[in-house]
Amino acid sequence: MQLTILPLVFALALLEVLTPTRGEDFGYDGVIGPRHWSERYRECAGKHQSPININVLRVKQVTLPDIMFIGFDDSIDGVHVSNNGHTVLIEVENELHPRVRGGPLEADYVFSQMHFHWGDNDTFGSEDKINHRSFPMELHMVFFKEEYKSVKEAILHPDGLTVLAFFYEVDRHQHPAYDEIVGALQNVTEPHTQVEMEHPFSFLNILPYDLRRYFTYRGSLTTPPCSEVVIWLDFEQPIRLAHEQIKAFRELKSTHGKITHNFRPIQPIGDRVVFYNIDSNYFTYNEIDPDEDEDAAPTKSSRRRGHNRGFSLTPRLFFVSLMLAMLQL
Ligand SMILES: *[C@@H]1O[C@H](CO)[C@@H](O)[C@H](O)[C@H]1NC(C)=O
Ligand SMILES: *[C@@H]1O[C@H](CO)[C@@H](O)[C@H](O)[C@H]1NC(C)=O
Ligand SMILES: [Zn+2]
Repeated sequence: MQLTILPLVFALALLEVLTPTRGEDFGYDGVIGPRHWSERYRECAGKHQSPININVLRVKQVTLPDIMFIGFDDSIDGVHVSNNGHTVLIEVENELHPRVRGGPLEADYVFSQMHFHWGDNDTFGSEDKINHRSFPMELHMVFFKEEYKSVKEAILHPDGLTVLAFFYEVDRHQHPAYDEIVGALQNVTEPHTQVEMEHPFSFLNILPYDLRRYFTYRGSLTTPPCSEVVIWLDFEQPIRLAHEQIKAFRELKSTHGKITHNFRPIQPIGDRVVFYNIDSNYFTYNEIDPDEDEDAAPTKSSRRRGHNRGFSLTPRLFFVSLMLAMLQL
């Protein structure tokens, strides 16, 4: 008896794994909406979930080391745009993926994919909020810690992923670097379709100018399985797109119809601290000794450089250790 049932059990288990509906078992409304995610994915009920509201009066100001954005200004070929039934994904096919290091990160993190979250109209759609303000759309660039080699392995470790998050704001003008992404959307309105970008793609072109001011905190994936493995970096300066460019995202479809919104509501912040990184040059500019003037001799100016470095390094080291101490709470 048992011998005849066993293969059936295996077959069923295999079917479960292979069923293409995996990933279609969550949505943003009704019985598959965010309030029900934790019934299937227990971590979605965790205490360190994302997104959150960032209260600017309660952040801890820090000056972290500069973030290095490696490969962000490369022209990348073989970039795919796809509709996974929840969002638009942008993925890089070739081997040399952009990466980030520095800031709050202790190692190199390698690019995996980027995707978007949006709302029914321009008054909301972002996941994180700043002082309870929503933005019409948010970009997530997902990176995994290099030593874990893949996202699959990385989500098993508390420092597995970092997500660079960027908010969007409506502008009167189109953002030319978004023309090709928005054009590609028309070709991936159906779920599980994909298209390759016709031109090389550069990450830097689609980002805001100021990459030095950001909020950072420990949180989770904002979709099931909601793993609490993400070092979030939310950049303060929004990216400005025309209303029509944002609207194009709302034409995408899931198996249930148009994806008019795909953001998770904010989650309790709990015992977490949000850090706010301000430009490290702020210290350098402001702590130049006022009695060292312009006609300084070469020896004096080299001394001045050393002097400034001393001043800017000390608070940095202090804040880095402070931050590391807080993160281990
Ligand atoms: C945006 O959508 C919300 C919810 O559907 C609605 O209450 C609000 O009036 C809309 N705002 C605009 C400007 O259309
Ligand atoms: C999408 O399809 C249109 C034709 O409908 C085509 O002109 C355009 O090049 C395609 N875009 C991409 C990125 O393949
Ligand atoms: Zn996301």
